[in-house]
Amino acid sequence: MSVEPRRIENQLTDKGFVPVYTTAIIEQPWDSYTEQDHATWSTLFKRQREILKGRACAEFIDNQERFGMAAGQIPRFEEINALLAKTTGWQLIGVEGLLPELDFFEHLANRRFPVTWWIRRPEQIDYIAEPDMFHDLFGHVPLLLNPVFADYMAAYGRGGVKAHGVSAEALVNLTRLYWYTVEFGLIRQDGALRIYGSGIVSSKGESIHCLESDAPNRIGFDIKRIMRTRYRIDTFQKTYFVIDSFEQLMEATRPDFVPIYAELATQPAYPAAAVLETDTLIHRGSGEGWATDADA
Ligand code: PHE
Ligand code: CO
Repeated sequence: MSVEPRRIENQLTDKGFVPVYTTAIIEQPWDSYTEQDHATWSTLFKRQREILKGRACAEFIDNQERFGMAAGQIPRFEEINALLAKTTGWQLIGVEGLLPELDFFEHLANRRFPVTWWIRRPEQIDYIAEPDMFHDLFGHVPLLLNPVFADYMAAYGRGGVKAHGVSAEALVNLTRLYWYTVEFGLIRQDGALRIYGSGIVSSKGESIHCLESDAPNRIGFDIKRIMRTRYRIDTFQKTYFVIDSFEQLMEATRPDFVPIYAELATQPAYPAAAVLETDTLIHRGSGEGWATDADA
């Protein structure tokens, strides 16, 4: 029995946009993509690849090429999966929209990466609040081919399942780690800052802002510091955390987080723009000219 795939988007209510969750796993309905869908992929692909030259980390671009991702048409999950199966053992699964936290963690723990099947509409080309296929596929999938990052993502999923059984606060701590690494992380390569976060690479404005603007802080990676730092989902980030390598990320997250959650439970969170004496400052943000017109 085949079911029509649905396009599950955030709903506008009197509280603003609220996320809507869905658990269905679907086959990518590749033949249902319209000319316009392929054109949207093409426009975004070309635009971001141009901006990301010299800005994204080396692995990101190299891996997009290994996958054969190109401007011509929306990639087929099947083809991406053929290479993932031979390399890091990950697998893309098609989804209709955002997943409930525990479902998401369980997929990651089993090396299944959920990718939204649909792509944004033309009027959403510069900004969409929720993840669409461009963000998920262009942004997240390339690093799944990197063995260390691939292991980190699976470990994160296992950590998520565990944190889910600890407390709501533990989950908040762990979600901040995902936000400041997987979504908005920077990495130092050959002495220069480069982007690896998916939320950045899929955003035209933030790809430039995160590296070139004086406004945000850029701070050396620190697990507990990140776990205590709030974030905004509707503006460019006020703070970016910088890793030196994916190995550093993997090693730093290896310890059991349960005692860390317990320790942090008694401590207040920091505002997104905080700078502390203990921070390894790479750049202290001027805080000036905050863009209000973020894109994602
Ligand atoms: N070590 C973490 C824990 O005990 C699991 C984890 C690994 C979390 C990697 C995030 C990233 O919960
Ligand atoms: Co994402």
